[in-house]
Amino acid sequence: VNSRTPLIAGNWKMNLDHLQAVAFVQKLHWTLKDAKHEDGSVEVAVFPPFTDIRSVQTLIDADKIPFALGAQDVSAHDSGAYTGEVSGAFLAKLDAKYVIIGHSERREYHSEGDDIVAAKVKASLKHGLVPVICVGETAGDLEKFGASAVPVSQLEAALEGVSPKADIVVAYEPVWAIGSGQAATPQQAQDVCAALRAVVAKVLGDEAAARTRILYGGSVKSGNIASFMREPDVDGALVGGASLVVDEFAAIIRFEK
Ligand code: G3P
Repeated sequence: VNSRTPLIAGNWKMNLDHLQAVAFVQKLHWTLKDAKHEDGSVEVAVFPPFTDIRSVQTLIDADKIPFALGAQDVSAHDSGAYTGEVSGAFLAKLDAKYVIIGHSERREYHSEGDDIVAAKVKASLKHGLVPVICVGETAGDLEKFGASAVPVSQLEAALEGVSPKADIVVAYEPVWAIGSGQAATPQQAQDVCAALRAVVAKVLGDEAAARTRILYGGSVKSGNIASFMREPDVDGALVGGASLVVDEFAAIIRFEK
């Protein structure tokens, strides 16, 4: 037993326009009425595309919906001549609480390496956002180095220069499990999440390690969420495909240990 509030996070990726997003959040909220997130025993967060954030924020605010809001990326820069970038300050002004950093799709399709990830972690913290730092090995890495080596080195790089007091979330997403329907086993997730907690302890200290939430992501669904949540070092899930289906995401949020 620990004091970490489980976090169930829906990464919508490039799905749902702002009208669909509003309808989705309303429906999810009605579906979850009286669920345990209402009393704060589970935190729910949604990560819509940038163009939806304002609409979702307005809805959450007006209807007092207890979901946290996050963005899927942030600029490493504060402001200025960076065409197409979105600053942490803009996101904070929209009441975004979280920002996903270093998702494997950005590492792969946008060539984001450890240096960019580290810069974005610092930028998000500077603007009061909580970075959800994504790490994970490819199938090739798994074969060559085992499961923990790559995620551990990615996290060490991302945490360089971060204050021990910083509020961060870590997400372990094995690349081979993302969108494949083949989730890691709970034991695999536990082993890597424990190794990542040891990195947080080494770099930021024991107090940070005890309070930092470490999520598992990769083909999470209602049928496997409970098995992950039973693991002592898995504090929640970062959900892709299943976060786009109201009943399925609601069932994940209602997981029973
Ligand atoms: O960030 C969440 C994601 O990469 C996992 O996707 O579709 O396997 O749940 P999915």
